Amino acid sequence: MLLHDDNGPTGAGMIGCLTYQSRAASPPSDADLDELVTRARARNNRHGVTGMLLYENGRYLQTLEGPPTGLDTIWSSIRQDERHAEIEVLTQHLVSGRLFSDWDLLLYRKLDQAPKSLLEKLRRKNPLAQHVPAIVQYALEADEPKLNDLFARLNEKGWSGDALVRELLEPAARMMGDAWLADECSEFDLTLGLGMLQMAGHAVRYSKDADDLRDSRYTILLASAPGEPHLFGPSLLADQFTDAGWGVEMAFPTSNEALTNQINEQQPDAVDIALSDALPRQNKVSKLRETVRQSRWSLPDQPLVVSVGGRLFAEASATAEQVGADLARQSAAGTRVTMGELVENARRAQEKTQS
Ligand SMILES: Cc1cc2nc3c(=O)[nH]c(=O)nc-3n(C[C@H](O)[C@H](O)[C@H](O)COP(=O)(O)O)c2cc1C
Repeated sequence: MLLHDDNGPTGAGMIGCLTYQSRAASPPSDADLDELVTRARARNNRHGVTGMLLYENGRYLQTLEGPPTGLDTIWSSIRQDERHAEIEVLTQHLVSGRLFSDWDLLLYRKLDQAPKSLLEKLRRKNPLAQHVPAIVQYALEADEPKLNDLFARLNEKGWSGDALVRELLEPAARMMGDAWLADECSEFDLTLGLGMLQMAGHAVRYSKDADDLRDSRYTILLASAPGEPHLFGPSLLADQFTDAGWGVEMAFPTSNEALTNQINEQQPDAVDIALSDALPRQNKVSKLRETVRQSRWSLPDQPLVVSVGGRLFAEASATAEQVGADLARQSAAGTRVTMGELVENARRAQEKTQS
């Protein structure tokens, strides 16, 4: 399963969006395409799925959007369909609004048939997505020069650090996780690949914008959830918070006790507790809830803002409420701004109760 059901209030209303390309097993006739699309429309409609299918010169490009469970059902059929091969997922994420709300499946037989405005919209929506498979390949092959080259080019083109994290690095981590889940790479490959992404992430710079609390004097402890071996998320956050002027400490604890000791020693304004960005970790909700609870306890006299992150939250499979956190970040991107606001609010609330 690639897109997970969303049960909680934070993710409620979010819809899954998936774009892939593939090669037709044999060129379909106009009648073949019409039949495929007529059946697909009826089925998509029953599952609340909308989207677009483009066929040109032996290749398909399809975007599908809908509630994660409906989308999963349709996607499992499409993946197994022998009428196409070399299926390559280009993007896969949760969005708040649909692009094709009126179309169970809009069909284009040629790229230049599609209205410019629509293509422009698609490109604008996720223009970095085309690079995700290449990033995964370079990272799994530990090809540092190619990774560096690609990031240097994207930096030159003026992509913001947040966009590179949200649209490129985090989807690449999830794609690697999918490869591991499908037994296409080993635990060793996955760990090495995530390490390469972590290295690429250091090249990303975060500019301060007007919303940033400039030169914040707040402090944050960036922790992996106890026992979690994947450190990619905390590493991205460390660069980001450091660039925004925060005092940053890191923790890779093996137990709740080790984490709470460190919180107690450092007395940070905020703590972020991260699960893997690559693997779904759906069985970790209650364990993480306990970690969050103990973290708060460890600083009883001062407000501690607690955020959580990882693929579990990026795909809205769990919510902040479920684990007792103040924030479940769906991406590392922009977290410095949200956390700055939360810490400021917590301080104000404390001052009010003291005066
Ligand atoms: C390129 C391509 C795109 C497709 N798109 C859809 C689609 O959007 N919705 C759909 O229900 N079936 C789509 N299909 C057909 C499905 O793969 C499958 O044949 C159909 O859903 C029946 O599924 P089932 O055999 O699992 O019942 C597509 C097939 C191909 C080759």
